[in-house]
Parts: sequence; C-alpha cells; structure tokens
Amino acid sequence: MSRHVIRPVLNGSETEVAVEARTTLAEMLRTELGLTGTKVSCQAQICGSCTVLVDGRPVSSCTYLGVDTDGREVTTIEGIGTDDELDVVQKAFVDAGAIQCGYCTPGFVLAVKALLARNPDPSMEQAKHFLDGNICRCTGYEQILTAVLAAARKIQQGTNTPEVTA
Ligand code: FES
Ligand code: FES
Repeated sequence: MSRHVIRPVLNGSETEVAVEARTTLAEMLRTELGLTGTKVSCQAQICGSCTVLVDGRPVSSCTYLGVDTDGREVTTIEGIGTDDELDVVQKAFVDAGAIQCGYCTPGFVLAVKALLARNPDPSMEQAKHFLDGNICRCTGYEQILTAVLAAARKIQQGTNTPEVTA
C-alpha cells in the first residue's frame, strides 16, 4: 500500500514520516517514530490511554489517522517534562500517589494538560467531567483528582505553567 509523506510538528520539532492512509496516529507514533510512551488498550476510543494532543486538543490516537496530523502540532508524553525535571502535572501525580501500574498515566497527564490550559482553576466536578473519557483500571481516581487540583494550585501560584494551549 502506498505511503504518504507528512510533516507534523512533533513535541516542538518538525518531523517527516511516511505512513499509509490507514495508519492510526498511535501506530505512527509507536511503530514509525519509536515513541512508545503512548499506550494503546481498547483501540475503540473508550479508555483514553492513547490520548495525545493535536493542536492542543486531546484526541484518541487509536482512532485518529496519522495522515491527519500533517502540518499540525502533536504533543505526546515524551514532550512533557524531562528526565531531570518533571512537568508540574507529572510531579503532582507522583506526589499524590496517582500512579499505580502507570498504563493510563500518559493519557491522563496529557488530558490534564489540556484541561489546565483551558481552565487553570477547575472545580472537582469540572475536572471529573473533563476526564470522564480516561479510565484507570487500577481505579486510582481519588489520587488522580487530587493531583489535578494540586497541579492547578501550583500553576496559579506561578510555580509552573502549562506548555500547551487549547
Ligand atoms: S486505546 Fe485509544 S481510547 Fe482506548
Ligand atoms: S494506574 Fe493502572 S490503569 Fe491507571
């Protein structure tokens, strides 16, 4: 099957990749680009584990076509924080004990980044509503919501700022 050369801006860097029209964004990231931080589970846009940001908006990369990211900004978990300095949301997850097996964590972190970029001071209910497409099979929802509100407080105090805009 023929491949299409596309040029997304991936984690801030212009990237060129050749993909088949049917290749999902998750496959493109994991197989073609080696970015395995994006986790795939249901493959049916139900669980949110594969969430990445396209132009600052959360999408399920298991059902989003890779070719549709041509010319767009794509942010994956590899583009959030560094090994030496975690992003404010990642740090809040660690501090709150919001990571158990960790499989859902990349998707949650990116969804929370999108939430805080558009609403830096969410209520518990707003956070729950925004994250209702992300499932944690370890059921650590209390800790995850604690982390969301803690990250929001830190951002408001100017300790850190979200990098993505929505
Ligand atoms: S793997 Fe994409 S939503 Fe579940
Ligand atoms: S920490 Fe295990 S699925 Fe969420």
